[in-house]
Parts: sequence; structure tokens; C-alpha cells
Amino acid sequence: MTTQSPVDETTVLVVGAGPAGLVLGNLLLAAGVDCLIVERGSRAHVERRARAGFLAADTVRVLADHGLADGLKARGREHGVCVFRTGSGEFALRYADLGRRESHTVYPQQELVADLVDAFLRRGGDLRFGTTVSAMGGLDGDRPWLTAEGPDGTPYRLSGRYVAGCDGRHGISRRLLPAGTVRRHRRRHGVTWLALLAEAPPSLPAVTYAVHERGFAGHMARTPAVTRYYLQCAPEDRAESWSDAEIWAELDLRMRAERFGPLRRGPLLERALVDLESDVLDPMQHGRLFLAGDAAGLISPSAAKGANLAVMAARTLAEGFAAALHRGDEEPLARYSATCLPRIWRAQEFSHWMIGLLHAPAGDDEESRFLRSLRDARLETLRTSLPHQHSFADGYVGI
Ligand code: APR
Repeated sequence: MTTQSPVDETTVLVVGAGPAGLVLGNLLLAAGVDCLIVERGSRAHVERRARAGFLAADTVRVLADHGLADGLKARGREHGVCVFRTGSGEFALRYADLGRRESHTVYPQQELVADLVDAFLRRGGDLRFGTTVSAMGGLDGDRPWLTAEGPDGTPYRLSGRYVAGCDGRHGISRRLLPAGTVRRHRRRHGVTWLALLAEAPPSLPAVTYAVHERGFAGHMARTPAVTRYYLQCAPEDRAESWSDAEIWAELDLRMRAERFGPLRRGPLLERALVDLESDVLDPMQHGRLFLAGDAAGLISPSAAKGANLAVMAARTLAEGFAAALHRGDEEPLARYSATCLPRIWRAQEFSHWMIGLLHAPAGDDEESRFLRSLRDARLETLRTSLPHQHSFADGYVGI
């Protein structure tokens, strides 16, 4: 149990122990920068939270370069093919042989988070679980501070040189960027998914996107025993609106099991409704506060880019802090948002395009018919055009 002095002094205060905060903390320790991470959840909670699991090659490189990839190298699985199923059949896109010739590594996020927590603690890092940041201040000065409340609820103050807001979409940091300086860009995609985690081996060898007149369905392996499924549903649906049997029947229908074979069923461990939305905060910084990951912007799960963007922003931020603290060079930090935003917008554009590739309104009105035909034309172009497949491969894996 860390005994907190009335005001803890450190150099970089990191709020949040998700992919962004944990990668940042590990890279800072590796660069000899004093830091601490404050995390609201318990260690058990953050290491159990099943979320993403599709790591881009750039992400694996950042982790491997800093000795953080042992787990994913040992237990991760290469994926270089994705499959599209439509009414006219299915086609496989071998993206690892196209574009930058890179593949994904499938490695459940909770395992990556556990690896990152372990590495941070082994490096002597100060990671305070069960501790919530309730206030921040001094962001315009040179000694920003946080008010943190530990497991016993006693508030205490943390003071540092910089604050990294890695506290996700519901965190406190994104609310602290002054309204007059930050511009929020937001898109609600008008698509709702029922996100499912099934205790069943993968049914298919690859990520499979099924486009059906009843709606989208997706199959993504997570581990040899657990598979992620997505089922597009109506915005008014509730997670409990569907029985397990109805879910499996609808997945079979949309994945065209009668033609391609049944799905391997099992208990549904998790179900949650996801309204696909995206947003970007510009800039992602104010004074001594720098945001990374979901705190800086949300991206729809359509192309599984969220955790990858979080890691890349953490890498950029770690380099900026090291430059300022070791060399007195504040320029990289001053340019942090300008460095990250082009990468974020390219990922947003591809993810938005993926939504239009896989979804269209079901109505029989003129507009819905037009959008369905656009979707079908995109799929046909992807199926038949090699240049387009090269471009898809770059966007799908690239960060
Ligand atoms: N005080 C302390 N910790 C907080 C606070 C707070 N006030 N608010 C939030 N947190 C913690 C949360 O408990 C969570 O563990 O911040 C962490 C934020 O982690 P994530 O939500 O995983 O955000 P990030 O690291 O940006 O990664 C986001 O990873 O989950 C995938 O693809 C998903 O895009 C997403 C990406």
C-alpha cells in the first residue's frame, strides 16, 4: 500500500491504465522519465476487461522495440486474410500479400494490458489501482496538479510537470480542455451493433464480414476458446431483447450457414450494445495536459483501430516528454496534436468508409435503395480491383 505524502511530487502524471496509459508509462520508465499511473479500476478489473484484440504491425513494432511484446509474440496469432460474404457468395482478401504486406496480430487486449501492467511494475513503476482522479488544475502553469482519491476515499494531491490524460471516453481529461480552445468533430454513424463474446472456438479461419439484407454480422477470433461476434441491430433494441437462441439463429442466417456451414456455438459470455460513433478533439492538448487514446477521440470499431491509435499516440507523447525533460526541447510537445491528428484522421476516414462498405439502410425508400447499391458497388470494386485491394490493405492494417 503506497503511503501518500500530502502532495506527491512526480514528473509525469498519467491518468488511466488502458493501452494508452500503460504503454506511455512503460515508455517513460524506459526513457528514464519519472512518472506514475493512477487507475480508477482494480488490477483484476483492468486485466479482465475484454475489449479489442487486433494489433496492427506498427503497434507490434512499438511494443517489441520496448520489450513489451513477449506475450503477444508467444500467444498472439498472425492474421493476414479477411473474408466478405454477400448474397453472391464470399471472397477472401489476402491483405498480408498486398499493400504494405503487413498482417494483424490477434492478441486479446486484456492479455496485453496484463503484460503491460506486469512490465510497468517490474520496472519499479508506481501504479495506483482503485484510485480516481476527481479534479485537475494548474494546467496553464508549470506545476499542474491532480486530486486523487485512493481506495480509502481519502483525497490527496499529486503534483507534477505534465499530465497525460489517458482516461478514455468517459474520463475527466477530455472535459478539461477549455471549450474555447478545443474543437470537437463528431459523427454518429447511425449503426448499432450487438457486441457478443462467445465461449466457443472460432467458426472460421479468418475475420469474416457478412453483408445481408437483414443487416451486418461479423466474426472475429479472439482466442482458441473465445470468439467475438457482432450483430447489427435496431437502435431501439436492448441487449436483453434477444435470447441466445435468437442470436445464434440470426448469426447463422446472416453468415449464410446453410451455404457455408454452421457456426460453432457456446455460452454468450458478454453482450453489449454499441452505437457506432466517432469523435476527434483538436487540439488534443492544453497547457501541461496532453490527451491520448479514447480520451483524445473515439473511433468506431469497424476497422479495430482504437487500441492501435492509443499505442501510437502514447509513443509520440513519450518521445515528446523525453525531449522536453532530457533536452529542454519543448517543440515535439508543442507539435503533439499536429503530429497525431493526420494519423488519426486517416484512420477515421478508413473506418468511416468500412462502415459504408458493410452497412446500408434496410428501408425500401429511394434513399435506402441508393445507399444499398452504393454499398454493393463498393464490395464489387473491392472484389474485382487489385489496385483497390492494395489500397484496402494499406488502410486496414496501417496506422
Ligand atoms: N481516474 C482514474 N482512472 C480513470 C478515470 C479517472 N477519473 N477515468 C477513467 N479512468 C481509467 C479507466 O478505468 C480505464 O481503465 O482510464 C482507463 C482508460 O482506458 P481505455 O478506456 O482502455 O482507454 P485507452 O487506453 O485510450 O484505450 C482505448 O482500447 O479498449 C480499446 O479499442 C478500444 O479504442 C479503445 C482503446
